[in-house]
Amino acid sequence: MDIFCIRGGTPLHGRIALHGAKNAALPLLAATLATGARCELHDCPDISDVTAACAILRHLGCAVEQHGGIVAVDAGSACRSDIPAELMRKMRAAVLFLGPLLARFGTAELSLPGGCVLGARPIDLHLRGLRRMGAEITLDGEHISARTDGLHGCTVALPLPSVGATENLILAALGCRGTLTLCNAAREPEIADLQCYLRKLGADISGAGTSTVTVGGFRPRPFVEHTIMPDRIVAATILCAAAACGGEVELQDVDPAHFSTVLDSLSEAGCAIITAASAVRLTSDGQLTAPRPVVTQPYPGFPTDAQPPLMAACLRAKGTTVFTENIFTNRYRHAEEFRRLGAAVSIEGRVAYVTGVERLTGAPLTASDLRGGAALVIAGLLAQGTAYIGRREYIDRGYEDIVRDLRALGARIKG
Ligand code: EPU
Repeated sequence: MDIFCIRGGTPLHGRIALHGAKNAALPLLAATLATGARCELHDCPDISDVTAACAILRHLGCAVEQHGGIVAVDAGSACRSDIPAELMRKMRAAVLFLGPLLARFGTAELSLPGGCVLGARPIDLHLRGLRRMGAEITLDGEHISARTDGLHGCTVALPLPSVGATENLILAALGCRGTLTLCNAAREPEIADLQCYLRKLGADISGAGTSTVTVGGFRPRPFVEHTIMPDRIVAATILCAAAACGGEVELQDVDPAHFSTVLDSLSEAGCAIITAASAVRLTSDGQLTAPRPVVTQPYPGFPTDAQPPLMAACLRAKGTTVFTENIFTNRYRHAEEFRRLGAAVSIEGRVAYVTGVERLTGAPLTASDLRGGAALVIAGLLAQGTAYIGRREYIDRGYEDIVRDLRALGARIKG
């Protein structure tokens, strides 16, 4: 089915394990290209963005096999450095192949990436950093043409801690002479996971997870295995659903420290939360109170990707929750859909005010981006009657099988 059909009103109970993180898997897949190695990634989510990354690797000449959560890539046979527009359009993370292509071949022909529309998403910081490392890059309309006679070490200070620019520059540095020092780097856990993988591949990299990352040399190893870190945003989504619907849910194989700001908000809203080293249990009576204002920030602040799911959880919370979205300029499109269910949400620039209502009523809704789409699913679970969520392909980009997971917890959802 192309749509999800949800009959709301049931509490969620049970325990589920999470798949590996999309936003860790995509840079790791791009990293495989930078080497001639054979790599095996475990817990790789079976989502359309991973399929798109594998299609790019195949196009470039790599041998790729996907089966049961394992993606095996043999990058030794990579033989071309161009990526056609139809592959670039599939996702934003396609731009992460630019750094590895320059590192491996010294040349790249590609186009601007697609991805969820969340406002302007320029790649100027990627290009500026690569130019500083010695790449000549021209941008002609949508087309990017890049070449270098050899990247060199230098210091790059990012004006803002862009996740993608941090990753792209780290990946390009695998092919550079000398040491790259990256200042004001993004500190997301997915970047620490990338460092862990690159060290296994033979890179001399340190500092990931802090604001200063250095990459100073690379002696490729022939075969590497890596288990991708669990998806902290999928974890946050499931917990927001359980908080809103009521019930008791336990997530296993997670690192609660990776989404502690989300746990803080859910706890302020009235949920009881118990964390262990790699598990979290949330209990909720479904009668939430508005948490303190939620302000999205680069990690370790509140993640922008968890803003839509938390907003959905607050639609019936007592009082008014105030959200400030600081990362993207247009990440409230889900709010318009929430109103169709009877929610009281108003937007003023970067700020959204959500006043809890007694009752939401099912209606046909349309997803327009990945996390906003997941938030519509949560809102549908809260509504009385039946909600339909169209354009589920957005949700499939980042959630392996949200229907399977929610049904396992007792939700009445089909799709
Ligand atoms: N920015 C620039 N210039 C650049 C790069 C970024 O101005 O060259 C701006 C962006 O426009 C945005 C801000 O900096 O306003 C942050 O962008 P960033 O580069 O950090 O984000 P990204 O790499 O495009 C990744 C995730 C997103 C997540 C953001 C922020 C991946 C594949 N994507 O995107 O995930 O929201 O970091 O944490 O890692 C999602 O999973 O739904 C998703 C959108």
